[in-house]
Amino acid sequence: MAAKDAKPVSEAHLKHALCYRPMTLDDVAYVLTVEHEVYPYPWTERILQDCIKAGYDCWLALENGVIVAHAFVSVAAGESHLLNLSVSKKHQGKGIGKTFIDFLVNIARNKKATVMLLEVRPSNLQAIHCYDAVGFNEIGSRKDYYPAANGKEDALLYAKEIY
Ligand SMILES: CC(C)(COP(=O)(O)OP(=O)(O)OC[C@H]1O[C@@H](n2cnc3c(N)ncnc32)[C@H](O)[C@@H]1OP(=O)(O)O)[C@@H](O)C(=O)NCCC(=O)NCCS
Repeated sequence: MAAKDAKPVSEAHLKHALCYRPMTLDDVAYVLTVEHEVYPYPWTERILQDCIKAGYDCWLALENGVIVAHAFVSVAAGESHLLNLSVSKKHQGKGIGKTFIDFLVNIARNKKATVMLLEVRPSNLQAIHCYDAVGFNEIGSRKDYYPAANGKEDALLYAKEIY
């Protein structure tokens, strides 16, 4: 195809060239700012530090050297649990969440997990769309799981077979 025939491709349709690196305690201050940016009830500094110290899979996704997302996964006894997946606000809706999940599934699979579980707020339609798009299915709910403005909110429990 001649260059003059090339059509612009919207960013949303490009496969993301993300790089990944494990999170360290030095990253906690930055991750905390993103937590506050994207959640009404963010994880605390203490929770972030404890996850790293406990040896969970704590990962950062970078695009062109800039941190665009973070995630925490625990893997034990053949099950993995996506505890936290967060794309910073200005990078959301560009396919980063989906691409990052693919990476995290591979990490869990390499540690012999055959399923990945996660909880999500029923009100979090953006996240639900993302999990649907990468093959998670709703398998149940957990009562009064999340803090909410007027008390508690249930969680939907989602699962994806990954073997
Ligand atoms: C939820 C989150 C991780 C998704 O990551 P993302 O990079 O924004 O999502 P993607 O761009 O990969 O989109 C994945 C799918 O969701 C859809 N989507 C994205 N934003 C959406 C929105 N605002 N409303 C509806 N659907 C949306 C996309 O169209 C895509 O579906 P498709 O493949 O059928 O087109 C990210 O938005 C985020 O960090 N949100 C704040 C923190 C949070 O809620 N984390 C999850 C806690 S359970």
